Amino acid sequence: MTNHPIPTDLTGKTCIVTGANGGIGASAVEHFAAQGAQVFATDLGPQFTGDFDGADRVSYQAFNLLDADGLINCLAWIKSADPDVLFNNAAIFDMGTVLDADLAQYDRLFGLNVRSFYAVMQAAAQSMVAQNRAGSIINLASQAGHRGEALVAHYCATKAAVISYTQSAALALAPHHIRVNAISPGVIDTPMWQDVDALFAKFENKAPGQKKREVGEAVPLGHMGSPSDVAGTALYLASDLSSYVTAQTLCVDGGNVLR
Ligand SMILES: NC(=O)c1ccc[n+]([C@@H]2O[C@H](COP(=O)([O-])OP(=O)(O)OC[C@H]3O[C@@H](n4cnc5c(N)ncnc54)[C@H](O)[C@@H]3O)[C@@H](O)[C@H]2O)c1
Repeated sequence: MTNHPIPTDLTGKTCIVTGANGGIGASAVEHFAAQGAQVFATDLGPQFTGDFDGADRVSYQAFNLLDADGLINCLAWIKSADPDVLFNNAAIFDMGTVLDADLAQYDRLFGLNVRSFYAVMQAAAQSMVAQNRAGSIINLASQAGHRGEALVAHYCATKAAVISYTQSAALALAPHHIRVNAISPGVIDTPMWQDVDALFAKFENKAPGQKKREVGEAVPLGHMGSPSDVAGTALYLASDLSSYVTAQTLCVDGGNVLR
């Protein structure tokens, strides 16, 4: 029998992960490191400490991507890492309708989910082009980016922007052999859902935990996803398994969005 290399092997690759202390980000860090990658992880606070295969290949730096200096320093850090892979994941959620979602909320959500997201993607792309790397950029969109929701005006719009930038970047970077794809998670059981559930409890007058239970039950596969469901798809997009896939948004949502 012929010996084939492991198709998801990331040995020799450098991966940047933003939002690395969150549910999905931490799982992506573990998946990339377990496949041999050097991982440069960043988030707001002190490093999440995990005991996993390849933890010694993870280095961590805190940056606040909503702070002007924090963003500038993060972009320099990204360029100095010479990344092959970007997992562009940091984002925040909030709720409001077009009648009450104000511009302060707009500035926060667009500031992180679009402005910093874009700057981080641009820095990684510029570095990959300068270093002549056939890289892979993975942007975190959402099922919320595929259709508006009455109560979630700004967040939905930020995630629609992520899908659009993914397509434009993929087409611009294809001549450089850099692939750009997005993942649209559905409902994934992470710390973000504590906030989402509490906000729905307020806006829809539900008991704590009720919204989270309802959205899980409504998924065609019958339950919420786990962070590793998303990280597994990230591993596919980071690796040579997906070498002919670009400009796509992959829905990892148990069947919630049909397109
Ligand atoms: N969990 C879900 O159901 C779900 C669904 C659809 C899309 N998503 C998307 O997946 C991604 C990860 O979500 P998650 O559920 O793991 O969320 P999470 O809240 O667990 O993680 C997000 C991380 O971003 C970091 N962050 C927040 N503000 C920051 C700032 N100013 N600077 C730097 N980092 C900051 C947080 O500290 C946190 O660790 C996000 O882009 C989110 O929009 C999640």
